[in-house]
Amino acid sequence: MNSILVLNGPNLNLLGTRQPEVYGSTTLAMIESACAEHGARLGLGITCLQSNHEGALIDAIHGARGTHDGIVLNAGAYTHTSVALMDAIASVALPLVEVHLSNIHAREAFRHRSYIAPVALGQICGFGAQGYLLALDALHAALSKAHPE
Ligand code: DQA
Repeated sequence: MNSILVLNGPNLNLLGTRQPEVYGSTTLAMIESACAEHGARLGLGITCLQSNHEGALIDAIHGARGTHDGIVLNAGAYTHTSVALMDAIASVALPLVEVHLSNIHAREAFRHRSYIAPVALGQICGFGAQGYLLALDALHAALSKAHPE
């Protein structure tokens, strides 16, 4: 069974109460259990992790090599600032889908730049919590193509 790490970065632990007009009212716990359910439907094992610390996110990405087959990442604001996260993703060479709840391209100019996008399979943004499930679909398809039954 393929295993996917669902990794969330800074401030996403506050989902549900954090700027609900931008990010909706779904909590991170609800997103994580929806990922587990959707993963079970797709035959994927799901491990979820959230950290507000850049180094902890980098450690989680390093640790995914040899443990997980792909990563779903919402790096929050580090998306727009972190060369270190980009380098970590490039170093482990695991398929990764970048997710954002909001449409970062329809927001402030500083959110249009993503350091994650160049090292990701693709980016899903603007679909709220459903984006995580779409990312699992995308990884499932990519992994099935890489290792057909
Ligand atoms: C976010 C978008 C980022 O610009 C922001 O800093 C976040 C959340 C999103 O999910 O829409 O923390 O990644």
